[in-house]
Formats: sequence, structure tokens, C-alpha cells
Amino acid sequence: MSRDTLTITDNRTGKQYEFPIEDGTIRALDLRQIKVNEKDFGLMTYDPAFNNTAACKSRITYIDGDRGVLLYRGYPIDQLAEKSSYLETAYLILNGELPTAPQLQQWTEHITLHTIIHENVKKFMDGFHHDAHPMGMLVSTIGALSTFYPDAKDIFNPSSRLKQTYRLIAKIPTLAAFAYRHSMGMPYAYPDNDLSYAGNFLNMLFKMTEVKYKPNPVLEKALDVLFILHADHEQNCSTSAMRGVGSSHVDPYSAIAAATAALYGPLHGGANEAVIRMLNEIGDVKRIPAFIQRVKAGEEKLMGFGHRVYKNYDPRARIIKGIAEEVFEVMGRNPLLDIAVELERIALDDEYFIKRKLYPNVDFYSGIIYQAMGFPTDMFPVLFAIPRTSGWVAQWVEMLLDSEQKIARPRQIYLGAGLRDYIPVDSRPSAP
Ligand code: CMC
Repeated sequence: MSRDTLTITDNRTGKQYEFPIEDGTIRALDLRQIKVNEKDFGLMTYDPAFNNTAACKSRITYIDGDRGVLLYRGYPIDQLAEKSSYLETAYLILNGELPTAPQLQQWTEHITLHTIIHENVKKFMDGFHHDAHPMGMLVSTIGALSTFYPDAKDIFNPSSRLKQTYRLIAKIPTLAAFAYRHSMGMPYAYPDNDLSYAGNFLNMLFKMTEVKYKPNPVLEKALDVLFILHADHEQNCSTSAMRGVGSSHVDPYSAIAAATAALYGPLHGGANEAVIRMLNEIGDVKRIPAFIQRVKAGEEKLMGFGHRVYKNYDPRARIIKGIAEEVFEVMGRNPLLDIAVELERIALDDEYFIKRKLYPNVDFYSGIIYQAMGFPTDMFPVLFAIPRTSGWVAQWVEMLLDSEQKIARPRQIYLGAGLRDYIPVDSRPSAP
């Protein structure tokens, strides 16, 4: 008769253990019962980079990596991209349900009313070098916000958490835009609360001398869809940073600064930037086969390809490829698209990529659109961090309210030196 349990025989002792299987997992702590004697610490699992370890139970985002499915709170990403808006999706991610019309109106109003940042933030923004990376400026200024809002330390107070949620979602675009204007040597453009979330962000970036900035509706919509696609992606590197740092019960600004720093890396949110550099380096479709050879020889990585979870086409990449044409109609065609499409075609037909199930991920096409929209390459990871804020906050709240969670603290396998006595510097043997 089948049972939802796992029986393990320890061949060191001949003892048998039976552990429950729940939701396709066994509890790692159950393994600690497996000991060779009473003094033994008990068995642990070794899982560098968390390849096969669930660190939480979540109800926010579902990914089926083999089938290329992504759901936020059960809703398919393509339906949200087509029918929802970023702020509505953020509400859904944070609250679990789509808002009613009055809820959406109130939510939008609260976010809109928090877009201004303290004037002192401008002063430390001014202190950065003209060529400072905007992601570095964003990480620092988000962290600095914690000094402006000491009430944010009250993390178990729902109304305080809600206030920080409004502030974070509203102010991060303002910080991002100010970082951009600083690097361009342009005066900061203040938020315009008549505009949509994406429209206002474009205003703060690109407003020149006109009295009222009018965002192009095609670009405004495209940016909003890109924001929806990037809103959450379950337990990736930056979300794990958010949960891990947040588990120390620090305020959410400090935890989001840590998550943003994790997103900065070229293997995560920095990949869209790396894709453009790679496409520029290839320069011509004729040079793709030689580039692919270098990838297969392990000399290069095909940036924007591969994913820890997706072993199929990333559904977000498919949607982005679709909106690229709409953006190109307004802004002109980005010639890098031809190189990207051909690169994808050749890679998807090549045994190396087929065998390893390497497909385009979200970053493969997003940079091409961002570039066509007039964003400098350095800004790409920033454009990822803005919408991911809602996901980070939702995951942080879920972690705080989960009674099974504690401060994150992995174990290690110690392979270093055994106990030894300190040797004064004069008595140490000389280096070989
Ligand atoms: N180009 C060439 N080979 C690759 C690539 C790639 N982009 N990605 C994985 N491989 C190979 C890898 O060398 C390994 O081969 P082998 O089995 O012969 O050693 C095999 O595929 C399995 O790869 P892995 O490194 O074990 O996979 P992972 O789950 O640890 O890494 C990844 C996932 C996303 C870090 C990796 O695929 C990668 O570096 N991709 C390029 C960077 C990128 O596009 N990142 C964006 C990820 S999506 C958005 C986000 O998370 O922010």
C-alpha cells in the first residue's frame, strides 16, 4: 500500500527511519534524527546555491519551469500583461486578490501621493560622481531612506508596513529617475501626479523645458507591461536576499537595498545590460557562428539565455518580443534585434543548448526595447528594480507573518584547520 512517507536505511547503523512527505518535500530537520550514536549531531543536507531546497512556503508566484508557465496569485502572466496595469498587478501580488474599482482607485491615490522624496536625498545624490552607475546610486539611496523613516522599524505593525509599502513603490522610481538625471548632468524633474505610474516615471526621466510632459502612450503602455512582467519571480537571488536580510527584522528600506544590490549582478538583473554589450560585441549576424563556438568552448556565456527554473521558453521573453515591434514603430527599429533573433534561432537549433535546455530568459529581449526607448544601458537593471519592489515587499511580509520562519542561518560543512595554538609573528616559519 502506498504511503506519503520516505523510508531511509542508514547503512552505517542498519537503522531505518520513516519520514513524512508533504507537498513533495521532506523536512530537512527530520534528517537530524539520523545519528550513528547519541553524541552525533545528526545528518544534514548539502545544497550549495539552494538547487533543491525549498526555504519557504509561498502563495504569491507559481512557476512551472518545464512548461514555461508563470502565474501571479494564480493569474497567468500573459493575461495580466494584456489586461492589467502595473499598479493593479502590484496590488494583486501584495494582497492576494485583484482590487475592486474603489480599492484600485484608493491604492493608486496612496502611491501617487508618496512620489516626492525628501530634499536632502537630492544632496547626497549630488555627491555621486557624474559617471556613477545608477544601480549603485539606487542601492545607496534606498538604504538611506531608512534614516528618513524610523517608523519603518515597527515591522509587525500592519499600518506601518502599509505606509512603507506606499513609500517604497512610490519613491523608488523617483530615486531611479534622479540617479539618471544626475548622470546626465540634468536638473531633477519632480513627479507629476496627473500622470500614470509609468507615465510619471518617463516624465521624471525625459522632461526637458516643456511646462507639461506628455508621455507617448505606446511607450507608456510598453513600460507598464515591462513592469508587470518584472513584478515578482518567486525565490530568486534578490528575493532570497530580501527574505534573508529581512529575517533579521531590519526595516524594509535596508532589506530592499540588499535585494537591489543582489539584483545588480550580471547573473541576475544585470544580465539585460550584459546582453546589449554582448550583441554590440558580436556586431553582425555573420559573426554569430564564431561567437556560438566560443560559448560552446566555455570561453563566453550566452547572456540572456538559461535559467535555474525555466527549462523551456521564459513566457516573459515571448511577451517582450511581441511588444518590441510596437516600440520600434514609434522609436525606429533597433538593429540589435536582428542579431538577437538570429542568435536565438541558431542557439535553439544547436545540440549544446538543446541538451542543457537553455532558452531565452526575460533579459534577452528586454534590453533591446529599453535601448530603443532611449534608456542608457546602465539604467536597465534599475528598470528591473522598480517593479520588483512590489514582489520584494510581498515576499517580505509573507516571511514576517509565517510562524515557521526564523532568522535565516544556513549550516556549513567545515573543512578547515583543526584546533591549533597561536604562534607569535617572530616565531612563525617563513613563507614558502
Ligand atoms: N550560456 C552558455 N552556457 C550556459 C548558459 C549560458 N547562458 N547558462 C547555463 N549554461 C550551461 C552551463 O555552463 C552548464 O553547462 P555544463 O553542464 O556543461 O557545466 C549548464 O548550462 C547548466 O548551467 P548552470 O550554470 O548549472 O545553471 P544555473 O541554474 O546555475 O544558472 C543562470 C542559471 C541564469 C545563472 C545561467 O543560465 C546564466 O549564467 N545565464 C546567463 C546570465 C543570465 O541571462 N541571467 C539572467 C537570468 S533570468 C533573470 C534574472 O534572474 O534576473
